Amino acid sequence: MASDKKIVSVWDPLVRIGHWTLVIAFFTAYFTEDDLMEVHTWAGYTVAAVVLIRIVWGLVGTKHARFSDFIYAPAKVFAYLKNLLALKPQHYIGHNPAGGAMVIALLLSLTATTFTGMKLYAVEENEGPFAITAQQAQTQMDKASIISAAKAEEDEEDNDANEKAEGAKNGHVVDKQAEEYWEELHETFVNLTLFLVFLHIGGVIFSSIVDKEKLVKSMITGKKEVDDSFQ
Ligand code: HEM
Ligand code: HEM
Repeated sequence: MASDKKIVSVWDPLVRIGHWTLVIAFFTAYFTEDDLMEVHTWAGYTVAAVVLIRIVWGLVGTKHARFSDFIYAPAKVFAYLKNLLALKPQHYIGHNPAGGAMVIALLLSLTATTFTGMKLYAVEENEGPFAITAQQAQTQMDKASIISAAKAEEDEEDNDANEKAEGAKNGHVVDKQAEEYWEELHETFVNLTLFLVFLHIGGVIFSSIVDKEKLVKSMITGKKEVDDSFQ
């Protein structure tokens, strides 16, 4: 039975600042590809840095920030969701089991989004952490011209091979196949993350209403009002 209410600290500053930085950086990256590439990549790097720091913090951070505090067995996640839909959810001081699963899904999807973005940036512009050295670029150029020459011999009408070397700039060849591959993957993970973000916001709103908890306020102040019914 619910009894005395008390205020406890749940989310440390790193979790809170990290969260709102993620929100701003994610949407900045989302709305700035193409003509604002510089802003896009820096917003993307910000997301990657926050995710990386958050993963380390999940191992060594404060009590409720640790993965061990909010990773539950799938059966617990489903049991929580069943109770939530029956409008009788169990209360948690930290992330509830469904929220915890969503945090993991978001962190993984954000990792994949930023990783594929960096690979794409390397293929398209030879910029970023996966950019190749001048020597590697030269080898790539040589390979491309061998392929180009072989294909041209095979079929003079075939423009495909020439296209491969077409994007060569600053000693860097744009590999069209690799570009298509990473672009497709980057786009897929962007969309997956966006889908998870909508689910996440929906879950936060639904949980806040059913639990009568001010979850968003807690993510700002770091504090939560709890009673004996919380675990
Ligand atoms: C790009 C958009 C967003 C991303 C990537 C995101 C990601 C995350 C992550 C990773 C966490 C876990 C926090 C931690 O333990 O470090 C979290 C928690 C949380 N987020 Fe978001 N979030 C986004 C948007 C939002 C928005 C717009 C809201 C407000 C409606 C929101 C409200 C919350 C709340 C209240 C929690 C804590 C949930 C709980 O009490 O268990 N998030 N979010
Ligand atoms: C969470 C962070 C990110 C989001 C939400 C995001 C989102 C997007 C979106 C929506 C596109 C357009 C896809 C399309 O053409 O349909 C795009 C393209 C691209 N992104 Fe990202 N991205 C992120 C991180 C990054 C990072 C870290 C990098 C590299 C440092 C990067 C590099 C690129 C490149 C090179 C393109 C292709 C631009 C073009 O050729 O027009 N992205 N991104």
